[in-house]
Amino acid sequence: MAHANIYVTRMIPQQNIDALRAVHHVEVNPHDRALTRDELLEAVRGRDAVITLLTDTVDAEVLDAAGPQCRIFANYAVGFNNFDVAAATARKIVMTNTPGVLDDATAAHAWALLFAVTRRISEAERYVRAGRWEGWAPMAFIGQDIDHKTVGVAGLGRIGAKFARKAKAFDMKVIYTDAHPNRMLEDELGATFVDKETLLREADFLSLHLPLTPETRHYLGAREFALMKKTAVLINAARGPLVDERALVTALREKMIWGAGLDVFENEPDLADGLSELENVVVVPHIASATIETRIAMGNIAVGNVLSVLNGERPQNCVNPEGLV
Ligand code: DGY
Repeated sequence: MAHANIYVTRMIPQQNIDALRAVHHVEVNPHDRALTRDELLEAVRGRDAVITLLTDTVDAEVLDAAGPQCRIFANYAVGFNNFDVAAATARKIVMTNTPGVLDDATAAHAWALLFAVTRRISEAERYVRAGRWEGWAPMAFIGQDIDHKTVGVAGLGRIGAKFARKAKAFDMKVIYTDAHPNRMLEDELGATFVDKETLLREADFLSLHLPLTPETRHYLGAREFALMKKTAVLINAARGPLVDERALVTALREKMIWGAGLDVFENEPDLADGLSELENVVVVPHIASATIETRIAMGNIAVGNVLSVLNGERPQNCVNPEGLV
């Protein structure tokens, strides 16, 4: 299709926009913020293709607002819990995501959070910046060793496996849960498949790498925190609603667990009451894939998916192959 009409719901790397503009008419949200619901409904009207973000809820109303000529909604994210896939399939609209290219960045970021929490980096930095440091002190900011500990991985998919692989550098024991054991990865990583309760009881550090589905919502809540070690650290760079955030605040406040490193939150951009006042939590604004290389690679995939569909070809990353005509 020559000169299709494409909308991008928020600025992505310029070179990705340029690649689309070389062939098609492209409009980008002019604001440095997510579109409101009304703006989104208006912006998609009459488009042949739309590139969306995880902050855009794409449901039947949005798909209908786009119109029957619309061919594809391409998410600029690997997660697509913002998509109503069934509604798109029913309308023969293709939906795509950006898997693969952000695994390393996300896994590295989960490790960065684990280091930050166990070595109390954010807390210590706040202390120095506040001008409170009076010199070396033997009992200040005592953290935890990482080496030789047990790391628990909930979800040994692409990102979970990358995360687990990096544990080798610290001679750690890796235990994991998933829908099924992955014997090949077990051989490669020396990882052990366990049930959820064992994972919770035995992990010194627990990192979540699950997709958000109705089944995984509140994967961790008060009951689960009660099973974890008092010295345990939780890392979540997957999706916020995997964790009951109010229960987490209680667990951190009452020292049921030692700390948490959070890239994602239950109701972004809002944090549960009391969370940001706690010293034993590191909070960052959903930036696990935010590296120059990764964000461009995500753009390449999203653009590639759009161009393929507009050319009548099969896109590389279709989440609803049944939506392909
Ligand atoms: C994703 O891709 O799903 C991340 O949350 C943002 O990169």
